[in-house]
Amino acid sequence: MIKRVGVLTSGGDAPGMNAAIRAIVRAGIANGLKMYAIFEGFKGLVEDDIIEVDRSFVSEILMRGGTILRSARLPEFKDSAVQDIAVANLKKHGIDALVVIGGDGTYRGAGALSRKGINTIALPGTIDNDIASSDYTIGFDTCLNTITECVDKLRDTTSSHQRCSIIEVMGNHCGDLAIYSGTACGADLILSPEYLPSEKEIISKLRHIHLTRSRHALIIVSEKLLPNLEDFAKHIFEATGFETRVEILGRIQRGGSPSASDRVLAARMGVYAINALMNQKTSRCVGIRGMQVVDYDIDEALKMTKSNSSELIDVISTLK
Ligand code: F6P
Repeated sequence: MIKRVGVLTSGGDAPGMNAAIRAIVRAGIANGLKMYAIFEGFKGLVEDDIIEVDRSFVSEILMRGGTILRSARLPEFKDSAVQDIAVANLKKHGIDALVVIGGDGTYRGAGALSRKGINTIALPGTIDNDIASSDYTIGFDTCLNTITECVDKLRDTTSSHQRCSIIEVMGNHCGDLAIYSGTACGADLILSPEYLPSEKEIISKLRHIHLTRSRHALIIVSEKLLPNLEDFAKHIFEATGFETRVEILGRIQRGGSPSASDRVLAARMGVYAINALMNQKTSRCVGIRGMQVVDYDIDEALKMTKSNSSELIDVISTLK
């Protein structure tokens, strides 16, 4: 039976990570476990930045963005010798299980530790919604609301000046933030890895808007998709006459108080993770499918491909 459980957050922070930490710590204590906070992700494991925590450690954090455990990216954690240091530190504290919150890099780290004998459970915590084993990740909904608020504001000035605004959103090669926010904001064009109209279609649509319709346009584009957005804006101006501006929303998308939906998701997944450990599960990752919280083998999950935005792409095509 496991007795001591560590919790860490790794990779890009996401709103709702604190709500997940709270749920994990409180569910662990409710099950008679000793709970440990590990700071700065896998870096804290390697550097032994680990403390035992009580229930009050996670008081008043439910509504806070970011992560009280802080986060880091540690590419060196791929190295087996570095993982051995982490395992030795865990053993020093008598910690036999870990719950990690993060994206696919975090899942890989958790998988490696489980192969070295540590019971691990991973939770999807990233704004990108790029974890195929879960319909939604913790942080995605809040981020989507942040983008929607920003784009609604941009629409005011874009329409007042009869301009075209190109708005870059995050997503790290996953187009969900662009596709969902583009739908929520009624963007004229959405450019994402899964949905990329040809240059001819883009220009023809913008010419049509410039000449005949509202005379302003909003384009939402996924980060890392086009080589240079300023060049793209220049090209639009030359081809359509539309005065075009680029807005990169950047890391503001990762901040803010988590939405109610992210808090609930985090609470459900956190409690599920502790139940999974109590049921002797290891090397599992938690996800949501429909209304149901589920778990998968981490290695299997990392091989899955996302498919759930196709219906939305149909919606966008119909409404364009
Ligand atoms: O994974 C979350 C994310 O915000 C991505 O959307 C983005 O590409 C990346 O992290 C940026 O990471 P960093 O803040 O480390 O540059």
